[in-house]
Amino acid sequence: MSQILHSSSVKKLITKGLKAECKSLRENNIFPQLKVILVGSDPASLIYTANKKKYCEKIGAICEIVALDEKISEADFRKTIDQINKDELVHGCIIQLPLPKHLSHLDVGHLVVKEKDVDGFNPENLYALMRNGNDSKDFISCTPKGILTLMQESQIAVAGKHVVIVGRSMIVGKPLAMLLTNHNATVTLAHSQTENLKTLTKSCDILVSAIGKANFIDETYISANKNQVIIDVGMNTDAQGQLCGDVHYERVVNLVSAITPVPGGVGPMTIVSLAQNLLQASKNKLSL
Ligand SMILES: NC(=O)c1ccc[n+]([C@@H]2O[C@H](COP(=O)([O-])OP(=O)(O)OC[C@H]3O[C@@H](n4cnc5c(N)ncnc54)[C@H](OP(=O)(O)O)[C@@H]3O)[C@@H](O)[C@H]2O)c1
Repeated sequence: MSQILHSSSVKKLITKGLKAECKSLRENNIFPQLKVILVGSDPASLIYTANKKKYCEKIGAICEIVALDEKISEADFRKTIDQINKDELVHGCIIQLPLPKHLSHLDVGHLVVKEKDVDGFNPENLYALMRNGNDSKDFISCTPKGILTLMQESQIAVAGKHVVIVGRSMIVGKPLAMLLTNHNATVTLAHSQTENLKTLTKSCDILVSAIGKANFIDETYISANKNQVIIDVGMNTDAQGQLCGDVHYERVVNLVSAITPVPGGVGPMTIVSLAQNLLQASKNKLSL
């Protein structure tokens, strides 16, 4: 019987801790505050930012969505972020992606100062991850951090294991490879140019898929007798318009020892990690 790695119980437990932590910060006159910069009205971004605000408020933090006009000039966009960088009352700032075309050339990692970079994209935070990344004061990218937390809380060991990550984006695959390496996994980072992908995915202990293709990983990518763990990061829409992962869940679920569902697996952990980073930023400011 496969273990289904629902994140709901892990999220509930961590949320309880975050609420208590936030309460204690507030009692000490520290009011954790996140600014979410949203340019334009991309429908998915509206939902993602609203979810982030809702969760921050649930734990007792302040979250403002800074909604900017789709056509805002680069100078005004930069000015807005500079003001937030300097605002003593703000502890964390994230820029919701994607940005409109005329701003998409900007490297967002350089815009938010490292002390408020709760997305973990600032070069100094990325360097900290490269260097070691296990210092709790550093900000680790939210999705990789959430994946590790989910595995740890589900008693899935990564040390010494061979992990194949399919997808090498800056927000998932690359930072996750570094994070799991820091936790003593042996990591192979695969992508669209990887030869013999199935040989790799069949040989690993843990397979992480972050491709962005509905139901791409099916039973032909799995070794039925290897007790593999499958982490599905994908958030896609299938032919029926339903939310689904990169992994063909029904075809794979009975062949593996554990698997994350979509929805209800990795997705909710990303917001939890964001809130953890925000509270850490609030404590870092006081060197708590
Ligand atoms: N649950 C969450 O919180 C969360 C967070 C972030 C992303 N996501 C989801 O995760 C998925 C990936 O997102 P992303 O932003 O990382 O995607 P991305 O930037 O589009 O990167 C996709 C990666 O997949 C690789 N790839 C594409 N087709 C492939 C194939 N046939 N075989 C092997 N590799 C292939 C690409 O390789 P190349 O580099 O060679 O092009 C690329 O590295 C999406 O569904 C997204 O919605 C979920």
